[in-house]
Amino acid sequence: MAGSLRMVKQKLRVAVIFGGRSGEHAVSLVSAKFVLSMLNTAKYEVTQIGVSKQGAWWVGEGVLQALEAEKLGALKPVTLLPDPTRPGLKRIEENKGAEMLETLTNVDVVFPVMHGTYGEDGTLQGLLEMAGVAYVGAGVLGSAAGMDKALFADVMRANDIPVVDYVLIRRSLMETDMETALRIAESLGDYPLFVKPANLGSSVGVSKVHSRADLLEGLMHAAQYDRRILVQKGHNVREIEISVLGNDDPQASVCGEISYAAEFYSYEAKYHDDASHATIPAEIPAATADRIRELAIRAFKAVDVSGMARVDFFIDKDSGEVYLNELNTIPGFTQISMYPELWKSSGMPGEELVDRLIELALERRAQRAATSHEYTRGG
Ligand SMILES: Nc1ncnc2c1ncn2[C@@H]1O[C@H](COP(=O)(O)OP(=O)(O)O)[C@@H](O)[C@H]1O
Ligand SMILES: [Mg+2]
Repeated sequence: MAGSLRMVKQKLRVAVIFGGRSGEHAVSLVSAKFVLSMLNTAKYEVTQIGVSKQGAWWVGEGVLQALEAEKLGALKPVTLLPDPTRPGLKRIEENKGAEMLETLTNVDVVFPVMHGTYGEDGTLQGLLEMAGVAYVGAGVLGSAAGMDKALFADVMRANDIPVVDYVLIRRSLMETDMETALRIAESLGDYPLFVKPANLGSSVGVSKVHSRADLLEGLMHAAQYDRRILVQKGHNVREIEISVLGNDDPQASVCGEISYAAEFYSYEAKYHDDASHATIPAEIPAATADRIRELAIRAFKAVDVSGMARVDFFIDKDSGEVYLNELNTIPGFTQISMYPELWKSSGMPGEELVDRLIELALERRAQRAATSHEYTRGG
């Protein structure tokens, strides 16, 4: 009957995309596992897209496990065209040496769970914009601005959001005039300093340096990962993280504090040291928590992020000053990650959180559709 047919509601088609070309490929797989487990299959028809370390997109039975094992043999290659008139996920079929595209499924929302370059930096978001598909999280601008620590710090400064003192050193300057590069870095004042590639995460390429010899080594190390290197004044800090969720009217969670045994929150401390742990809510004065919440929301709006972000702060142990350190637009999303944990402690369990992120993605897509991209005369 037509009446009952109309009652059958089409499930929302969600494509979760994970893996990818960045150094955070492995972390992405763990995040994706959690996101997938939180997606209610009564509501969503889920397609898993695994992106290999080489950047190829794959679908098929057990794609997540296949990527983990780096055994992609049984999978099927897929692609998404940057052409909104040819929507949907396309399967690439080989036929006598020719490649043909066949629509595999339409997609209502893409959920990118890829950290770092080619996932979190606006490049994937650009493709999704071109394709005209809704997607979870920040758009091109917010993603790119959140990714580059130097540009991000400039925007924070312009918005009177406190950040630690920093200078940007270009690799090209190091190559032509290392002495000047060292002098610019040392203009920050006393050691220790922190040296980091502008565009990485997970503390890859980050060093804490205590002398000119260390500084030189730290710069050379960071230069392996990026053309743009940020040098910051090193503070003696407590580290507070907070989760933000929303589009034009974002909300912030409770604060959490990260503690670790290492000298700083290094890659090892993040992923391999059992001594690292989180305290939620952070044991900080209510006024400090309120200030952090307010700064996080201002930062989120300043770089025009949508959907989600985890915003990380330092509290200087000596002066009590609060500094915003960074904003992550695709934060770790594992079972024990701060982003979902902070929301859980704020009364929003994982399943509700992913529902909300999908709603926000659709809302943003609708806003975009309502925006004219053409010049109309008169009006
Ligand atoms: N200016 C600084 N003062 C003190 N500690 C810092 C500073 N910058 C970075 N750190 C330490 O290094 C860690 C990684 O730096 P961060 O900028 O957060 O890079 P990533 O994006 O890789 O997480 C921080 O969590 C903190 O422990
Ligand atoms: Mg960090």
